[in-house]
Amino acid sequence: MPLNIIIGTQWGDEGKGHITDRLAHDAAVVARYSGGDNAGHTVTIGDEIFKLHLIPSGIIHPGVICLIGNGAVVNPAVLLREMDELAARGVDVGPERLKLSGAAHLITPAHIAMDRAHERARGREAIGTTMRGIGPTYTDKARREGLRAELLADPVALAGALASHVATKNEALVGGYGMEPVDVAAVLGEFTDYARRLGSHLADGPALVDEALARGHMVLAEGAQGTLLDIDHGTYPFVTSSSPTAGGAMTGLGVGPRVVDRVIGVAKAFTTRVGSGPFPTELDGAAAARLRGMGDKPWDEFGTTTGRPRRVGWLDLPILRHARRVNSLSELVLTKLDILSGLAEIPVCVAYELDGRRVESFPPDLKTLARCRPIYETLPGWVEDITDARRPSDLPAAARWYVEFVSAGAGAPVSHVSVGPGRAQFIEME
Ligand code: IMP
Repeated sequence: MPLNIIIGTQWGDEGKGHITDRLAHDAAVVARYSGGDNAGHTVTIGDEIFKLHLIPSGIIHPGVICLIGNGAVVNPAVLLREMDELAARGVDVGPERLKLSGAAHLITPAHIAMDRAHERARGREAIGTTMRGIGPTYTDKARREGLRAELLADPVALAGALASHVATKNEALVGGYGMEPVDVAAVLGEFTDYARRLGSHLADGPALVDEALARGHMVLAEGAQGTLLDIDHGTYPFVTSSSPTAGGAMTGLGVGPRVVDRVIGVAKAFTTRVGSGPFPTELDGAAAARLRGMGDKPWDEFGTTTGRPRRVGWLDLPILRHARRVNSLSELVLTKLDILSGLAEIPVCVAYELDGRRVESFPPDLKTLARCRPIYETLPGWVEDITDARRPSDLPAAARWYVEFVSAGAGAPVSHVSVGPGRAQFIEME
């Protein structure tokens, strides 16, 4: 059995946890390959809602090994909090089930302080990061000054590396940004405790994945964020600092492309974005509030990690075509179709108008994107509540047409549709 990859096709928050949970059933290993606790994955099982930021969603399935791969960045405080919360609900998060690649990079309080400092210094140009220290941690990795998780197995080396890391960051924080220094003694104390608790979870990630594949098992790579937040293929500089696209799964887990079978792109039936940056189909006012919800339901469009209201807009097919191309998607999973129920008509962006010309593809640079105006086609809506639909034939004709339209417009077949947050609220398309 191969490696299957789950990818966000938009700006994150597409509902990847939902499909991961479904496919994890058949997987031996579920692995995160990029990002850190900037992600927020929600899995709903019966009345229970699990909100996970770092631990792969597969943890809910007994018997599945969960790996935080080398391409991820890890705040040990968040990881331990999440482990404690899961353990309190009876989920096994012991070292046999939850593995941390020694080559993943550690996020420290100094990285978080630097994230805050950079954002403040950017002023009106701020990226709107999640303030989880993601960018500064990947920056240190690229500068070859990062702290790898393997240090958790060597408390003496960890203390030395942390002391010089915090000292360097404090120079920048105090001297460059006029901010308070990070308390080095407190960080050393905290991390000594993290090392004691996490040392036994360290693993050779690529070897673990390779062994599972060699035994014929399926490995599921769980993407975080989305294609348009990718450092190379997203709306740079309004992106995260990692590679959430399919290529990132290769380097972020230590495998080559020949082991890949399915590349599953998850697309919300409309579009959302958190943070700054361009968004061609963005809505405001009542139309935006209708898609966003009021925040009283767990699935309303408010950030799982930051609680920020998400920006919302109509579905954008040039974005999905871009995601199909850069990820070589084998299929699409369309989520939250139920949210569109009750709309009289549903506009879908099918192309852009650029300087009087029609363009079909998502432009590679922000200057061009800023001049693009969405060209909409308006599809008929449906009034029926579809949350109980379980087969394609349970969907009203207009909803089926919407799915077919997306599939044809994106250039990838829609394999599944979700019609609610519950595990069973899924339709396998024929
Ligand atoms: P960072 O990853 O915290 O550096 O944030 C960079 C950009 O990515 C900001 O616009 C964030 O709002 C966005 N971002 C990061 N993680 C997620 C996510 O999981 N879902 C949606 N947006 C995200």
